[in-house]
Amino acid sequence: MDSAVSSNEPATGCPVAHTTAGFSFFDREYQENPGASLAWARESQPVFYNDDSDYWVVTRHEDVKSVFSQFNKFSAAITLTPVTPPSEAAGAQLEKYGFAPCPVLADSDPPMHRQYRRLNAPAFMPDRIDPLASYIRQTTNDYIDRFVERGHADLIADMLWDIPCLVALQFLGIPEEDVDTVRRLATSMTEFVWGRPSPEEQVRAADGLGQFWAMGERVIGKLKELDDPPGWLGHAIKMQREHPDVISDTWLQTNVMGGAMAAHETTTNATANAVVTLLRNRDQWDRLCAQPALIPGAVEECLRLNPSVAAWRRIAKEDVRVGDVTIPAGAKILMVIASANQDDAVFEEPERFDIDRDAKAHIAFGAGTHMCLGNHLARLEMVIYLEELTRRLPHMTLDHQEFHYVPNTSFRGPESLHVSWDVEKNPVLS
Ligand code: HEM
Repeated sequence: MDSAVSSNEPATGCPVAHTTAGFSFFDREYQENPGASLAWARESQPVFYNDDSDYWVVTRHEDVKSVFSQFNKFSAAITLTPVTPPSEAAGAQLEKYGFAPCPVLADSDPPMHRQYRRLNAPAFMPDRIDPLASYIRQTTNDYIDRFVERGHADLIADMLWDIPCLVALQFLGIPEEDVDTVRRLATSMTEFVWGRPSPEEQVRAADGLGQFWAMGERVIGKLKELDDPPGWLGHAIKMQREHPDVISDTWLQTNVMGGAMAAHETTTNATANAVVTLLRNRDQWDRLCAQPALIPGAVEECLRLNPSVAAWRRIAKEDVRVGDVTIPAGAKILMVIASANQDDAVFEEPERFDIDRDAKAHIAFGAGTHMCLGNHLARLEMVIYLEELTRRLPHMTLDHQEFHYVPNTSFRGPESLHVSWDVEKNPVLS
């Protein structure tokens, strides 16, 4: 199940959709450009109840940031709960695998969240991440070598689905033999947690999630046999040896699935969205080819205008005011990051793509106590992918194509990304 969107189609659409009642997060308009699809809300109804999803929707930068930051008023417990409640059949499918995750980093609240964060943060520090740079660059070039003489590629299938997955597993400490399983099952979680699958699709996605869960038990079992287990999972296992009251076996197993999901698809999608945005703004792509030092700034602008995590969730712990609206205790809240990133109160002419702007106020990685722990790795990867693509394929152009997305509230990136170039003009062979 996916939605097709023409690459040349404007993101405005039908005016009927511009009402709180008519708006759906599963429509093409939202998938293509969630920030633009909510321009009407930022303007006239920045916090609204959406009956299609049963979520309160927050669209302005200031409000989204304040919900992210007030962990005492908004719980993260709902973060990984399926948007579409699982059917009995999907629940039964999960039970077959003994699926029983516990709160991890993303969906825990203080005081547990503080402890998880303190014990796990060292695995994400630059001294642990930066040594991955040579592996990322080498792998990127190995992949480009495979298609550079072909003159065309689907950058997702030929490169961007695989490399962030390999990097994620390297970072986590999962053996490469499990790459195929993770690569195959990754979208099951997106569809199951953030999507609106049909009953059959939900059972299939539940099966994928169950397999992911079973893999987690196996991976942790093997890592625990080692004196010095590698990666983030290895670090967490060592932390468990010191703090068994904080890090349980179930936590470790849940984290295999959650960690792979957090690190892989987010980065695949962010890089694909960046390539699309840059190739649609050819002058700015050409400037990056001529001046690679501009790439880190361009990455921030791509994350601002075309983020891969479009929205994130919280639940109100009490009646709470957001902007001019009182959201009732227990209400579910969707903070639309992609909309906040296009708020003209913060960004001048927000719909304009401009690699020279200071885009750092974007909240593509969230904000506050839960802010993305992997942001340093994600940025490092994106910079290297763009450095190598601009170096080896500066003459690449975007094919005319329809982009397809897995309809869901939060994870967005095209399922394929076709580009072409003239092989005769390849500037470097390796
Ligand atoms: C461009 C790529 C990425 C984007 C857009 C992204 C985005 C996000 C967002 C929006 C959150 C929620 C933040 C909040 O609640 O305030 C988050 C949390 C998180 N991300 Fe990322 N992420 C990316 C890559 C990664 C990578 C590569 C890793 C792992 C290495 C990672 C690990 C995490 C973890 C562990 C959390 C939970 C942190 C916590 O709750 O304390 N992310 N990410």
